[in-house]
Order: sequence, then C-alpha cells, then structure tokens
Amino acid sequence: LEGSLAPPRLAGRRVLVSAGPTYEDIDPVRFIGNRSSGKMGFALAAAAAAMGAEVTLVAGPVALATPPGVRRLDVRGAAQMREAVLAAAPGQDVYLGTAAVADYTPVQVREHKIKKTGETLVLELVRTADVLAEVAAHAQRPRLVVGFAAETEELEAYARDKLERKGLDMIAANEVGRAGQGFETDDNALAVFWRGGRHDIPRAAKGEVARQLLDLIADRLEAQ
Ligand code: CTP
Ligand code: CA
Repeated sequence: LEGSLAPPRLAGRRVLVSAGPTYEDIDPVRFIGNRSSGKMGFALAAAAAAMGAEVTLVAGPVALATPPGVRRLDVRGAAQMREAVLAAAPGQDVYLGTAAVADYTPVQVREHKIKKTGETLVLELVRTADVLAEVAAHAQRPRLVVGFAAETEELEAYARDKLERKGLDMIAANEVGRAGQGFETDDNALAVFWRGGRHDIPRAAKGEVARQLLDLIADRLEAQ
C-alpha cells in the first residue's frame, strides 16, 4: 500500500534522451548509416515517462512508435541531432545519450545521384561534432550526463576512457557482436560505470534493463 501511494521515482525530473542511428546523406538516393535500432533509447524514454519524468526524445531514423507521454523530435543526420539535442538541453535534469551518432559524414552531399563510372569510388568524410561531450561541457548542463558505449572488446577500459574524456557522470556499456545482445535485439545487458563505481545489469528485455538503469540514475540524483 505504501508503495502505491509514493510518488513515482522520477516525478518532477526532466529527462532528455537521444536515440537511434543517424543517416549521413551522400547523394539524393544514398546515405551512410549504422545498425542502431533505437530500441534501448525508446525503452528508456518509455520507462522514464512511466516513472513520472517529463521526457523529450530526439530520435534518428527508426521504425518505432512514440512511447506514451513522451515529446518526440525526429531528426536525420548527426548535425541535425546535435542541433535538436543542444536546443533541448537547457533545463533538463538528465541527458541519456543512447544515439549512435555517426562519427564521420561526407564532406559534401552531392546534388545529383553519383553515377557508376570507375571501378573504385572514394568518399571523403569529415569528423562530426561529439554531441555528448558538448552536452557535458554546456553552460546549462543537465545534472546527470549519461553516455552509452557499444564495444566489441576491452569494455571497461574503453568505457572509463569515454567517461573521463567526455566529462560524463555515468556511462552504460554493452558488448556488441555477441549473439542476441546489443544492436537490433530485444535483449540487452549493461555494465554501468561512474567515477569510483560499477554496477552490472544482467541480460534481460530492454524494458527491464531500462527500469534498472533509471533506478541507478534516480539513486545518483537523490545522492547529489
Ligand atoms: N556520441 C555523440 N556524438 C558523436 C559520437 C558519439 O554524442 N558524434 C555519443 C553517443 O551517443 C554515446 C557515446 O558518445 O553516448 C559513445 O559513443 P561511441 O561511438 O561509443 O564513442 P565515440 O566517442 O564515437 O568513440 P568510438 O566510436 O571511436 O569508439
Ligand atoms: Ca562512435
């Protein structure tokens, strides 16, 4: 009875989530993308809303329904993702950067479809801005900036390196390239790191993993 009368754990909190891949256009009919389904980010947005948070979801190109009670902004490329996230960041309590933002984008989008001429084709790409690092360095920084890292090896070392380098409060890492885990799946397992701490969330449906991660986040907010 006591539990049912308590306010939801994230009541009054504002949570900004980025999710999905970004598509970097090459010409009018082609793009460079990646294998992110957006499911983990959408699961987090849904769970945060269910826990009482006011949720804004910036979504790259995905085929997923908007979770109930969530404000959704659709974007396509890394530059658009950056713009939407930075515009929404002020006043947020938490940023969850689950989006698989492209690391490189074509130097120029060709005006016309590239024709099949030579035996080889070279595309020149340029580094994109790091949205997560910019949010963490923002003057009106959310109180808790959480990164996500998909790695195929050296999980903890790479995750902790990103935690420090990008000035994050927390990073949730998962191993990809393993059967039934990470990209394009309904299950996930996370190793969550912060300065001086670690918590493992065992493999479960993404909705369950999302609830557990948000419980950890609520703990950190309450501790601040
Ligand atoms: N990220 C971002 N903007 C980028 C690249 C990454 O905001 N241009 C964020 C992702 O949303 C994620 C975190 O950074 O929360 C980690 O992404 P990841 O691809 O693992 O890190 P990178 O710094 O891009 O390093 P690398 O791909 O070389 O491992
Ligand atoms: Ca990357």
